[in-house]
Amino acid sequence: MHVHVADHPLVTHKLTVLRDRTTPSPTFRALASELVTLLAYEATRSVRTQTVRIETPVTSTEGLAIADPKPLVVPILRAGLGMLDGMVTLLPSAEVGFLGMVRNEETLQPSVYAERLPSDLSGRQCFVLDPMLATGGSLVAAIDYLFDRGATDVTAVCLIAAPEGVAAVEKATEGRAVTVVLGALDQGLDERGYIVPGLGDAGDRLYGTVPA
Ligand code: PRP
Ligand code: URA
Repeated sequence: MHVHVADHPLVTHKLTVLRDRTTPSPTFRALASELVTLLAYEATRSVRTQTVRIETPVTSTEGLAIADPKPLVVPILRAGLGMLDGMVTLLPSAEVGFLGMVRNEETLQPSVYAERLPSDLSGRQCFVLDPMLATGGSLVAAIDYLFDRGATDVTAVCLIAAPEGVAAVEKATEGRAVTVVLGALDQGLDERGYIVPGLGDAGDRLYGTVPA
């Protein structure tokens, strides 16, 4: 597994505002979107391309276009939805599939409650969006889902991760083409499985608290 942690003052600046408990939802949503666009630049470094020939007003030349089949972007509902606009801003030709997952806050085990993905992902590059990589349970389940359907490689874009979650994803995906692009790698998890210092519950901060 390849792990890339963004090392850029703009990313750290925007994450600092995102972490601040006084930042309201509208600002939080705008910043999450801006951060994804910054991380997407690194996440798409290995996006598959094909050579195309074009005519400029001056001459004929070769360039690159995103190859077929188009990449698939998969936001993990609910919080990953807050990252979708920022990602497709940079990759407008991508297709989008959806996976709804929720972590049981007592057992910390994830479960899938919604799914709208192509049944055959053969040859597809997939980009999973989820702001928080905590225990890693949700991301491991999402990656398994995509590889089981034939995806060739998966890149996860997360705003904040705990080392425990990164280690869990690395162990579970050994031998598979997986890349994780992070805005920050934090200290660890607290006794409730929350990332420290983290930003709290990403879904609640984006959309407000919804009782289970
Ligand atoms: C959050 C987050 C991840 C998951 C991370 O989602 O968006 O999907 O928890 O935790 P893990 O690494 O320990 O699995 P949550 O289950 O709270 O659902 P939500 O997006 O609907 O708020
Ligand atoms: N899910 C979140 O939204 N935040 C965390 O810190 C851990 C899991």
